[in-house]
Amino acid sequence: PNQNEDNLRSPICCIMGHVDTGKTKLLDCIRGTNVQEGEAGGITQQIGATYFPAENIRERTKELKADAKLKVPGLLVIDTPGHESFTNLRSRGSGLCDIAILVVDIMHGLEPQTIESLNLLKMRNTEFIVALNKVDRLYGWKVCKNAPIVKAMKQQSKDVQFEYNTRLTQIVTQFKEQGINTELYYKNKEMGKDTFSIVPTSAISGEGIPDMLLLLVQWTQKTMIERLTYSNVVQCTVLEVKVVEGHGTTIDVVLVNGVLHEGDQIVVCGMQGPIVTTIRALLTPHPMKELRVKGTYLHHKEIKAAQGIKITAQGFEHAIAGTSLYVVGPDDDVEDIKEAAMED
Ligand code: GTP
Ligand code: MG
Ligand code: NA
Repeated sequence: PNQNEDNLRSPICCIMGHVDTGKTKLLDCIRGTNVQEGEAGGITQQIGATYFPAENIRERTKELKADAKLKVPGLLVIDTPGHESFTNLRSRGSGLCDIAILVVDIMHGLEPQTIESLNLLKMRNTEFIVALNKVDRLYGWKVCKNAPIVKAMKQQSKDVQFEYNTRLTQIVTQFKEQGINTELYYKNKEMGKDTFSIVPTSAISGEGIPDMLLLLVQWTQKTMIERLTYSNVVQCTVLEVKVVEGHGTTIDVVLVNGVLHEGDQIVVCGMQGPIVTTIRALLTPHPMKELRVKGTYLHHKEIKAAQGIKITAQGFEHAIAGTSLYVVGPDDDVEDIKEAAMED
């Protein structure tokens, strides 16, 4: 019955929420990077992608002593901007994902783009978990670096626990007002059925991060086997079109399913008509590094989904972000594919 287990693609997880709730910082905490501090004004203005291999997730969650069996090869996380002017990017990100993390600042509760993100997720029926971030800002918080949240909470004073419970209760009520039932994840036995799980986190001191990672992997493995079963049909979306020194105009894509090869003939939607070209190079950042940040790239002859990839080829100058990338197979008629590409 479990013949699929060895042929799963990595789940794609989109991280969404109001500006400055700590989306990028949470990813920095898992990656051990400093992407957020390099952003202009501390504001994310592009969609990002980071691949987390199963090995790193296992390492990061081992204190939870959960069933260590990870069936997925890894997790691809899509970072999105929270600033109000980037609704289109949040929509693009949420349209790609299997599951989402909705980040809420425990000191602020639900904010306008929290609600906007929530509506995008509802619209597509996307499962999500809530990261109730910045718990370290509760007055008197005692840091328990990278600890599972239950363990960290036991170390806190009565006052901290009281403030935490008060804020948590308020936020559960705010979700209820949006028609959404939520509960702390370790009390939520119904997980995903009608009640969404809340994971308290700190992106600065790492409390709750193991719980968040484990929850994502366990939940997708448990409920999305069919959806995550690898398929040969290429499903690929253009995230960004960018000029990169030494590479000309490149496209950053998310490969949701299928495989891409160097030398594949591809078609993408362009401002002046369909762009038919040949993949010159398939580049990825190192695992646990952000695709949107300049760095050294790994070259691949072929890449299987799911992955965030930078593609170099001729003719991308007028490519349009947000559209699909098509591969021309040996039996395909290029004209049909050009037509399909322009319908996006
Ligand atoms: P946008 O992408 O611009 O929407 O913001 P974001 O949600 O990615 O938030 P970001 O990671 O830029 O963090 C915003 C600010 O909050 C930064 O100054 C972070 O250092 C701070 N911050 C993020 N997470 C935490 C946290 O858990 N605790 C504390 N104390 N500060 C945090
Ligand atoms: Mg950000
Ligand atoms: Na920010």
